[in-house]
Amino acid sequence: MKICVIGTGYVGLVGAAIFSDWGNTIVGVDIDSEKIERIKKGEMPIYEPGLSEIVLKNISEGRLSFTTSLSEGMRDAEIVFVCVGTPQSETGDADLTAVWKVAEEIGRNLETYKVIVLKSTVPVGTNEKVKKLIKDNLRFNTEFDVVSNPEFLREGYSIEDMKNPDRTVIGSDSPKALSIMKSLYAHLGKPIVEADFKSAEMIKYASNAFLASKISFINEMAQICERSGADVSVVAKGMGLDSRVGPKFLNAGIGYGGSCFPKDVAALYKTSTDQAYDFKLLRGVMEVNELQKNYFVSKIVRYFGGNLSGKTFGVLGLAFKENTDDIRESVAIEVVRILRGLGAYLKVFDPQAMYNSKKVLGEVDIKYCLDKYEAIEDTDALIILTEWKEFGTIDLERVKNSLKNHVIFDGRNILDRKKAEEAGFTYFAIGKRTNGTELLSKRPTGTPGVILKNGD
Ligand code: UDX
Repeated sequence: MKICVIGTGYVGLVGAAIFSDWGNTIVGVDIDSEKIERIKKGEMPIYEPGLSEIVLKNISEGRLSFTTSLSEGMRDAEIVFVCVGTPQSETGDADLTAVWKVAEEIGRNLETYKVIVLKSTVPVGTNEKVKKLIKDNLRFNTEFDVVSNPEFLREGYSIEDMKNPDRTVIGSDSPKALSIMKSLYAHLGKPIVEADFKSAEMIKYASNAFLASKISFINEMAQICERSGADVSVVAKGMGLDSRVGPKFLNAGIGYGGSCFPKDVAALYKTSTDQAYDFKLLRGVMEVNELQKNYFVSKIVRYFGGNLSGKTFGVLGLAFKENTDDIRESVAIEVVRILRGLGAYLKVFDPQAMYNSKKVLGEVDIKYCLDKYEAIEDTDALIILTEWKEFGTIDLERVKNSLKNHVIFDGRNILDRKKAEEAGFTYFAIGKRTNGTELLSKRPTGTPGVILKNGD
């Protein structure tokens, strides 16, 4: 099949690469000429394991090419994927400026029947508006169909997710377009959910909001576990083995970040208020997530007697999660900012996100280190902010010899608590009681507890 992919960000570039790897002929389009030149040379604008190899292979085999011209890119295509960004606007809605612009341009350039597919995450009603916008901009009386085909790719695993999706959602009002889309995905042998436009759009938001709710739920469970002496990791394991619950997205931590969850949850909440409905649960999900980092920072502040000025911390992790260089809405970056604001000096390391972090954090009171061991050398504490696997295997004896105080603040529960304690550390995690500290010990047993806000 001949396919045009507009937008070469995470979704578009990975989509273009995999569609071409399936034997289709793809033209990727982006307005950023510098980016297009870099991609052509195999320099990926993002860190995504395995992506560069697939892009280069398909370029050299003639199935994948790139251009800055939308009219050229879509000329021969049967399917045109729209994969442009839909960032969060100041009001919490998705900013659809790029989608509208592309829809108008598609309309102006549509000369033969094509299926126009929206992969970008867009609020309910957008596909219908895109259809109208394309129609209003047609120069010829060309037939076309619009399809909603939301993506569910996780950064860092998007190649795997693209090749092996749990499901493919196709929102369409045209049997012809539906059958063209099915022929693109049929070989995967995975379930295809046929939907109307609005349901397809809603599935994406509902999925992300539900996963975010799982995270906020386990983060609140962590509060109760810590106060009562239970271990949230053990609780999550016990819950996750129930097939109705499932083990994924039950890792307590410093909160969710990234380019999707915060914006999609906020956008769904906005959709609900626009429909005159207050989505109470979602409000809680967002509030818990906002407070979670403060709760973590408060442990550090308390341990150091309320004053961080003059303290130096070894910080591991800046990306919003492991396996990516992405720092958009990264809670790790926010925690670094808070600690610096409280007077601490930070020695930081992340396996992939150093360059991006330097651009937003600058160099005041921050030293960017070459590896995890340099970051902790001669510091007052080790602080873990991202769940990179390599942080979980850090040599605790080396850590001990490097730190001035034998204390670890693990914001991702990535270390083994028992091992850390046996190695002689005071180990603060999320949702586990810390050795030697009785968090609510002053409360007489048998009296009703005061409800503490996270971070109090
Ligand atoms: C997410 C969705 O998973 C994906 O389907 C959608 O297409 C885009 O948004 P992504 O943004 O790559 O993907 O991140 P994800 O792996 O979902 O993690 C989101 C955040 O939640 C990260 O900050 C991560 O650290 C955090 N998280 C995840 C937890 O705190 N605990 C968990 O158990 C899982």
